[in-house]
Amino acid sequence: MKQLRSLLLSLVIISLSQTTSHAIAHYFPNISALPPPSQLPNITTDNLWSRFRNLSGCHLGDSVLGLATLKSYLFRFGYITNASAETFTDDFDSDLESAVKFYQLNFNLNVSGVLDDVTLRQIQQPRCGNVDVINGTSSMRKNGSTTTTNRLSAVAHYSFFPNAPRWPEDRRDLNYAFLPANQLTESAKEVFARAFEKWAAVIPVTFTRIETYAAADIRIGFFTTDHGDGEPFDGVLGVLAHAFSPTNGRFHLDGDEYWVDGATAADPTAFDLESVAVHEIGHLLGLGHSSVEEAIMYPSISGGVRKVELAADDVEGVQVLYGSRVETNGSTPTSQQTERNGEEGNRTRGAHLMGMSLILAIGWWITL
Ligand SMILES: *[C@@H]1O[C@H](CO)[C@@H](O)[C@H](O)[C@H]1NC(C)=O
Ligand SMILES: *[C@@H]1O[C@H](CO)[C@@H](O)[C@H](O)[C@H]1NC(C)=O
Ligand SMILES: *[C@@H]1O[C@H](CO)[C@@H](O)[C@H](O)[C@H]1NC(C)=O
Ligand SMILES: *[C@@H]1O[C@H](CO)[C@@H](O)[C@H](O)[C@H]1NC(C)=O
Ligand SMILES: *[C@@H]1O[C@H](CO)[C@@H](O)[C@H](O)[C@H]1NC(C)=O
Ligand SMILES: *[C@@H]1O[C@H](CO)[C@@H](O)[C@H](O)[C@H]1NC(C)=O
Ligand SMILES: *[C@@H]1O[C@H](CO)[C@@H](O)[C@H](O)[C@H]1NC(C)=O
Ligand SMILES: *[C@@H]1O[C@H](CO)[C@@H](O)[C@H](O)[C@H]1NC(C)=O
Ligand SMILES: *[C@@H]1O[C@H](CO)[C@@H](O)[C@H](O)[C@H]1NC(C)=O
Repeated sequence: MKQLRSLLLSLVIISLSQTTSHAIAHYFPNISALPPPSQLPNITTDNLWSRFRNLSGCHLGDSVLGLATLKSYLFRFGYITNASAETFTDDFDSDLESAVKFYQLNFNLNVSGVLDDVTLRQIQQPRCGNVDVINGTSSMRKNGSTTTTNRLSAVAHYSFFPNAPRWPEDRRDLNYAFLPANQLTESAKEVFARAFEKWAAVIPVTFTRIETYAAADIRIGFFTTDHGDGEPFDGVLGVLAHAFSPTNGRFHLDGDEYWVDGATAADPTAFDLESVAVHEIGHLLGLGHSSVEEAIMYPSISGGVRKVELAADDVEGVQVLYGSRVETNGSTPTSQQTERNGEEGNRTRGAHLMGMSLILAIGWWITL
């Protein structure tokens, strides 16, 4: 059975890699460059996940059309692990109730196991495609366990990928490149440079842009739908981007989204590119998702929102992996990387990138 699954996986990966689709990114350097609202995605009609609205109030014992799709969603993000997705039914069984409770715990909601409106609104939010839960243990709370109480008191925290992979000590000067087929403008590339800079400011890792995509540590590309890594994008809204754990280096954005530089309170269907880039770079460096809502590594983001500053939770997490950046005058204590003290002052300008990320859910898509 296991062999069959691996075989299937390889076959699907091979067939996907033959139909890889890149995109000319829909990138707009400012809000006024965006197309008029009538030409942008419609949050009501174009959001695949808005169908979950219909499940309001569902709980254990119900049988409602659409629950099977919700199970696929929860399976995809790691909340259901041991089930076979082909056999998902519309029955609200105890496995689904446990998954909903786990989801509510991770997103700081009331842990009722009931699909209340607050939970359903959260589920419909655009988000990162990386899973929240790896191998059935929470990756969004440091202490990782579910609780039976309704009010949560567990301390939310940063997380890592399994076995906490990071870039090794001899690979801390990373370079990055953009998929040429995307034809990104300088303005778009500068957005990524700023995003890398956020992380380079707090850890002794540097990011330098190079032109040879295939040779880069971090490879940034906009893709649509199936693109060969087993993690197909889903058109507008829904999943926005994903990135792989160290030292893979793949950083993929959904080429169907409308990307803009800046907050666009007026339009919730265009996404601030820098906000999403800072998040994905966190994955490239080895961070998983965090249940701290202010953290960059929180999994979801609303359209129109700009969130580019690292929170204490992000900084703490990434410094566990890499130590902290040493001040040029040597006054700041660091955990590990002190040998580069002194040369930092000239390296932090310009292009700094970081990246390593991971892909978590290998299994979910095969059954969707
Ligand atoms: C917005 O971007 C467009 C296209 O690049 C440019 O022509 C325009 O001057 C920019 N507007 C502002 C306010 O920056
Ligand atoms: C989105 O679609 C809904 C339903 O068809 C419609 O009422 C609404 O006006 C649309 N919004 C925009 C911005 O086009
Ligand atoms: C949601 O429920 C309404 C009323 O029960 C129904 O008309 C509609 O088709 C449902 N929508 C979906 C996407 O299932
Ligand atoms: C999944 O695992 C849980 C906990 O180990 C168990 O209670 C449940 O029966 C399992 N479900 C399936 C479909 O195997
Ligand atoms: C949790 O439940 C309480 C009491 O029912 C309610 O006041 C509160 O708004 C709920 N919080 C969330 C995040 O749903
Ligand atoms: C998940 O757990 C299984 C069995 O404990 C292990 O073999 C596998 O490597 C784990 N996968 C990840 C991604 O940690
Ligand atoms: C949660 O993690 C902190 C820090 O690692 C630890 O001190 C604390 O005992 C843990 N709490 C639980 C309930 O595991
Ligand atoms: C080093 O920098 C820190 C913070 O910028 C400052 O507080 C401290 O006085 C400086 N130490 C020396 C020796 O310059
Ligand atoms: C920074 O660069 C300048 C000229 O390129 C050089 O003179 C200076 O020593 C460098 N500073 C450090 C801290 O490396």
